[in-house]
Order: sequence, then C-alpha cells, then structure tokens
Amino acid sequence: MSETATGVSVKGANQTGGAAGNNSFVVVANRLPVDMITEADGAKTWQASPGGLVSALSPVLEKHQGCWVGWPGVADESPEPFRTERGVLLHPVELTQYDYEEFYEGFSNATLWPLYHNLIVTPEFNRSWWDAYRDVNLRFATEVASVAAHGATVWVQDYQLQLVPGILRQLRPDLTIGFFLHIPFPPPEIYRQLPWRDEMLRGLMDADLIGFHLVSNVRNFVELCRSYDFEISGDITIREAGITITTPSGHKLGVGAFPISIDTSAMATPTASGSHEEADEALEQMHLDMGSPSTVFLGVDRLDYTKGILQRLLAFEELLDSGALDPADVALVQLATPSRERIDSYRITRSNVEEAVGRINGRFAQIGRPVVHYQHRSVSKDVLMRYYRLADIMLVTPFRDGMNLVAKEFVATRADSSGALVLSEFAGAADELTQAHLCNPFDIEDTKKAMLQAAWGLKDNPEMMKERMASMYNQVMEHDVDLWASAFLSALDKARA
Ligand code: ADP
Ligand code: G6P
Repeated sequence: MSETATGVSVKGANQTGGAAGNNSFVVVANRLPVDMITEADGAKTWQASPGGLVSALSPVLEKHQGCWVGWPGVADESPEPFRTERGVLLHPVELTQYDYEEFYEGFSNATLWPLYHNLIVTPEFNRSWWDAYRDVNLRFATEVASVAAHGATVWVQDYQLQLVPGILRQLRPDLTIGFFLHIPFPPPEIYRQLPWRDEMLRGLMDADLIGFHLVSNVRNFVELCRSYDFEISGDITIREAGITITTPSGHKLGVGAFPISIDTSAMATPTASGSHEEADEALEQMHLDMGSPSTVFLGVDRLDYTKGILQRLLAFEELLDSGALDPADVALVQLATPSRERIDSYRITRSNVEEAVGRINGRFAQIGRPVVHYQHRSVSKDVLMRYYRLADIMLVTPFRDGMNLVAKEFVATRADSSGALVLSEFAGAADELTQAHLCNPFDIEDTKKAMLQAAWGLKDNPEMMKERMASMYNQVMEHDVDLWASAFLSALDKARA
C-alpha cells in the first residue's frame, strides 16, 4: 500500500505499472454519454445524458474508438461494459446511493461547482463529502487502471475527478495522463477557501498536461501555483501547452488553454432522420402553432443557477411591461433540461423560474397564445436543431460558464447569417464570439439593452447583423471540436515526451 500526495491510500501501487487492459485510449468522466433508464415494465434502456462535456466528447471518442469509463447516471447500478453502435466501449463505474449524495450532490455539486463558479451560491464544506470524493476518485482511478493498455493515453475529465491523475500515476506510472477542466478555474483567493486545497492541487499535478478553456483560467491556475513550491516557466498560449510546471519531485507538466467547441459536421444537416423539406415543414408548423410571432427569442440551458434563466425572464418581462416589446408580436421559448434536482439551490432556481414563467404568461398571454413557451425536459438533437433554426435571437446569459456550447451550436445553424446572439460577457464563449450582442447579466438594464439592440438590428440594419453573424459562423466552423481534441492530444504527447 502506498499513499499519494492527496493522502489517498492506493493498494497494489508499484513503480513498473499494474495489470493492464487492452485500451490504448481511455477517457474517464463522472458520467457516461448515456444514462440508464428503467421503464415502467422494468426494462432497462439508455438515453443521452445531459451537459456540454458529453456533447463535445462523444464525437472524439467515436473517432478514436476509445474506451469511456464513467457512471451510468443512476445510483446502485453496475451494468456490464458494452460497445455502442458507433464503436465506443462504455465501462460503467457504480456509485452507491451514499456516493450519489455525498460525492455527486455534495462535494462535486454543492462544494466545487459553486466555488469554481465564483460563489454565485455559497459553497458548503463538509468533511464526510470530502471523504466520499476521495473514495470515489480512487474507485474511478482503479477502474481506469484495469482497462488501460500498457503505455495508454488516459484523458481525465472535469472537477468531479481531480484526484484521479495523482492516484493513477501511483497505480500505473506507464500511462500518459491528461486532465481537462470543463468549468472555470476561479481566482486564487476563491480557490483558497477550499479546506482541502493542497491535496486537491497536488492530485492534479501528477498529470502530464492540464487543459482549461480560457487564458483567464490558466492565469488563475498559474497564479495559484506560484504560491506553492513549484517551478514555473513559459507563457500562456492557446491550443498549446505554453506553461511548464516542475513539481518538487521533478515531475514536469504542461498547462494551456484549449477552447472547447462543437461537432460542426453534426450541425450542418437540419435533421439526421428526415429530408430538408420535412425539416422546413416541421419548422413552419412550429412557428404557426406559436401564432407566427415576428421575433422568437430562445434560451436552451440545463436548469442551473449559473445560467441566469430567471434574470433573462425578468429582463423580457420588463421589456413587455414598458411596451418596448409587443406581446402580440414576440415569443420567448425556454428549454430547460432537468439537472441536479434534489440540491436546494437547484430546487429554488426551478421554482423561481417557473413562477416567473407563470406570472409573465398570466400578465401578457392570450388564450392559446403564450408569450413564454417553457419546457422542463430534454429534447432530441433533431428537435433541438429545429428550435435553433426557429429562433431569431438566441439568449445565452449565464452569470458564469466555462464555455457554453449552446451559443456555438446556435451560431453553427446560421450558414445563411440570419439571426442574432445575445451573449453574457461571463460565458467562456464570449472570448471567441466577439460579434455577439454582449451583456452583463448582473445588470438587467444592460441585458435589456442587448436584447433590444438585437431585435432592432434585425429590423433596421439587417446587413450589419448578417456581417456579425457571418463572422461568428466562420469562427465556429474553423474551430470545431476536432481541433480542440487534436490540439489537446498532440500537446499531451509532447508534454509526455
Ligand atoms: P453545460 O455543459 O453547462 O450544460 P453547455 O451549453 O456547454 O452547458 O452544453 C449543454 C449541452 O446540452 C449542449 O450540447 C446542448 O445542446 C445540450 N442541451 C441543453 N439543453 C438541452 C435540452 N433541453 N435538450 C437536449 N439537449 C440540450
Ligand atoms: C457540465 C459539467 C459536466 C457535467 C454536466 C452535466 O457540463 O462540466 O461535468 O457532466 O454539466 O451535469 P451533471 O451533474 O448532470 O453530470
């Protein structure tokens, strides 16, 4: 038994590498790309799991025919590994109900998530949650060690698994280990609130490469590292590991900004399962069913307090109230995927959002003609594409967001340069989509101003609006998820070499 820098005890750790599996490329994330569902008759089926990480990594894994280690989305289930139709080997890791509550709902989503999202709600620090986090990270690392071939590349994903690089290095020194954080990395003074900050950081430092979305995330991370006994050299670069950090044990790792993106090829066709004509007819019907509003605003988010859904609704309500928008002429569609539903801050957010939807429709809707169309469920990719195409103005107004793929997905549906994007300056995507109507979501007047500028621009200055959209469209098309993955993986190879 040996102990890692994180204090996690690792049985069977050795310096030559433990028993290997036969997968040369392994991704490990808290979630598999599919969730296990139990039907009313007891039959088990699978459905796509939520979130941007899964959307971005699925095409990467399919391309590499790799192995994906993750949790099947329900507690106390341990299905056998299986291969998807597209050739990805899924290797489930069981989480018990206790793990679900303490590791997933607790430490991951009530401690780290709010801490890393700049304290939009107050993080809770709970010692038994930390113990569960360490246990579950050890379990994930052990599973990875059992499936990875000798010398394999392992790509560890996100805040739920920050101790995995350190544990895995002990178990399997032969592996090349990359780590990617899909959420923002906070300023050091916020990170330092974490009672287990040293163990957490040292667990990460055993990776060969750590990737963040943004230059500002790397800057925060490097500033934090300066207060430890690490040697730091190089400059912050995009799509390369410009920074090299050397730990006191002599291990060198690279750090860089790798902005994630979307699978643009999957967005090019309006529907995977029907013709263009059918898709156009469905779109027209949807618009008619809504009473043919001349401007459709759209929001698509997991129902998370970071996304600013309530504040967006309040801005819309004030615009209706003041007469700046005419309720007979506009509609707002809000798709909200259920997320982390038992955590208090999520329950409160849902209840506030639904109360606002009810109030706005109560004040401004006609019979059979809501002003806000709200759906609290996940929809298929085909249906989502239809909503993107239906929208005139996409509203992406998070208080804080690692990247926000929804903004890029919407832009990718605009080959004809139509429509407008209202985008929070606190979404990672704002670094690249500079031609959006940027707003500060903490400032309701600024949000209203951006919404109106987008609406008026489409009516009064369509040429200028087309230029803005065309520039964003080109940006997204030229920087897709393939570029993200290949840049990270080639920087990882170099860092290991
Ligand atoms: P996050 O990762 O925080 O959820 P992102 O915007 O980066 O935010 O990614 C969200 C992903 O989830 C996108 O790929 C989007 O298409 C998908 N998505 C969001 N809402 C829905 C929904 N109601 N139905 C289906 N997919 C959705
Ligand atoms: C974000 C996180 C992912 C997470 C996803 C969905 O994208 O970065 O790690 O998987 O949200 O959240 P959930 O808690 O349902 O996995």
